[in-house]
Amino acid sequence: MKLKAIAEAPSNLAFVKYWGKKDAELRIPTNNSISVNLSEARTITSVEFDPEFEEDSLAVVGSKTPPEIGFSDRIFKHLNRIRMLAGVSYKAKVQTRNTFPAGVGIASSASGFAALTVAGCAALKLEISEKELSGLARLGSGSACRSIPDGFTEWIAEDRDKNSYAIQIAPPTHWDIVIVTIVVSKQAKKISSTSGHALAAASPYFPARLASLPERLEAIRSAILDKDFQSFGRQTELEAISLHTIAMTSPIQMENSWYSGSYYWLPDSLELMLAVQNWRSNGLEVYFTLDAGPSVHIICLSKDLIQLVGSIHEIESVKPDRKWDLFINTPSMGTHLVE
Ligand code: PMV
Repeated sequence: MKLKAIAEAPSNLAFVKYWGKKDAELRIPTNNSISVNLSEARTITSVEFDPEFEEDSLAVVGSKTPPEIGFSDRIFKHLNRIRMLAGVSYKAKVQTRNTFPAGVGIASSASGFAALTVAGCAALKLEISEKELSGLARLGSGSACRSIPDGFTEWIAEDRDKNSYAIQIAPPTHWDIVIVTIVVSKQAKKISSTSGHALAAASPYFPARLASLPERLEAIRSAILDKDFQSFGRQTELEAISLHTIAMTSPIQMENSWYSGSYYWLPDSLELMLAVQNWRSNGLEVYFTLDAGPSVHIICLSKDLIQLVGSIHEIESVKPDRKWDLFINTPSMGTHLVE
């Protein structure tokens, strides 16, 4: 019997962000977070276990950026969790491919660990619930738990391993918003989100951020359910700036250099953020958000997509050597088997 499965997982974009952990080992976050699965940013992973394999192996297909240091070890550690659940010790061959660049502010570890979890569990014929799959994916990379259910999801932080997983708050077809992701640079960020989480509590503004989150979570959850685009967009944009305020005020020592904080954005990112505010005052209702990287995600209603893409190309062409990549995402299904 062949112990092999292939899964496809979407990356997800958080409207209320996960930044900071209560328990680093178990990846239990300081706060709930809310996101949507992205249709055009996906990871496809095959996992095969075989008693004949002598060691675990990982092949990243078609990637121009080298994986983060320690990435293979994180994958193999995650395979151990899956093996332990199934009670087997066979080594595995993992092959994975992304439809988007890694390390630029589109959560590739989210789609990566969600796909690995679903493919690995299916390969070993483990029958576990969606909540358990989500909790298991979380142990690989926190945000991966939100890529398991379909559509708009909320990760319930909780205090214990078993209770910290994501649930669906609305299906993908609930709301026809579009997320235009603009990759302004493919250079991978210097400070990983794992380091960012660990540094968050060093920011003097972190307690203020945490105090504001219950109200923001409620506002964004209700705005999604009520399809109130204005309230949703305003809160989402404020939330992105809140995360970056923490990142920019969490000092870090790396090798011989000291940084007063991490600037994940680049001049092009800031130009886009200012453009969004400008377009909005001219009547185009769009909002931005950014994760831990320079890519800018601009959210609009589908009726405004053509105008938005035209406006983005207009400012892209102001500098002739500028070449941005655009991904036009709609809310998508979660992680699923493809064979
Ligand atoms: O799951 P991680 O460790 O890659 O952290 C993700 C952090 C952010 O993307 C910045 C925010 C989020 O909630 O996705």
